[in-house]
Amino acid sequence: NWNVKNFIEDQVELIRNQVGDKKVLLALSGGVDSSVVAALLIKAIGKQLVCVHVNHGLMRKGESESVVEIFKNQMDANLIYVDAEERFLGKLEGVADPEEKRKIIGAEFIRVFEEEARKLEGIDFLAQGTIYPDIVESGTKTAKVVKSHHNVGGLPEDLGFELVEPLYYLFKDEVRACGVELGLPHDMVYRQPFPGPGLGVRCLGAITKDRLEAVRESDAILREEFANAGLDKTVWQYFTAVPDFKSVGVRDNARSFEYPVIIRAVNTVDAMTATIEHIDWAILDKITNRILKEVKNVNRVCYDLSPKPSATIEWE
Ligand code: XMP
Repeated sequence: NWNVKNFIEDQVELIRNQVGDKKVLLALSGGVDSSVVAALLIKAIGKQLVCVHVNHGLMRKGESESVVEIFKNQMDANLIYVDAEERFLGKLEGVADPEEKRKIIGAEFIRVFEEEARKLEGIDFLAQGTIYPDIVESGTKTAKVVKSHHNVGGLPEDLGFELVEPLYYLFKDEVRACGVELGLPHDMVYRQPFPGPGLGVRCLGAITKDRLEAVRESDAILREEFANAGLDKTVWQYFTAVPDFKSVGVRDNARSFEYPVIIRAVNTVDAMTATIEHIDWAILDKITNRILKEVKNVNRVCYDLSPKPSATIEWE
């Protein structure tokens, strides 16, 4: 029977044996899997682990900051923070096609990470947060491409590193149990899924800074109000999207011409199909009022009632 304490002890031993006194590199996105790998490796080899956090400028509000706070400040990890926002936004400028955007973000991520890896000396190993469902699903995912999903962590093989994949045989709930045991914050271990391309697939069409800001700020409000209402513990995934068109409104007795924010909240078991959350009107009202008051360039809020299928969970 699987036991989290034994698993961690065994892995610490195995990692130490595999790695010896060599260094290990890890792309630390702040997602559940890479965070748990980081915590496990910090326990096993401390500063021999070099974490690289690439902020592609498409993270949620406060997300990169909390990666730095938890891993660098609290766990005293060897963490390199790369601010690549301008670089990603530059590559994405004027690109409206969703698949094109996904490919650019994925490719640029690998490039940035490779550049960081080449700057470092004496690294022999690459750690990855591969978990069992990644292995099982990878066949079907590529066979039936609705979207080119990518995990910011799917890295090239030609860097010449040996892989360290301590979560290889674990399911998500087991990974979470490890995270809790290793002392990671509850919010990090139980956070909702977040796509590798981040807010890039929620700032619809060609990304602009004003709309990216609107997605980020409205998402932060949505998450805060969901937590206030306890919905963060029951709803599978919830976020906002901002389209690339404006509508007419009225503000301070004058015509306004601004963007809408779309709220999405869904429940699912395996993300293959999904139903919408029937949010209380009072909660939707409160979120709407806050978004209209606090988020710049927005004059309308809509709630997406579409199940998957016919929609997908994300808008792109
Ligand atoms: P869709 O939009 O296809 O999303 O219904 C299903 C689930 O997958 C997440 N998603 C991604 N996850 N990399 C990921 O790791 C990606 O590129 C990606 N795109 C979508 C989405 O948030 C939802 O939970």
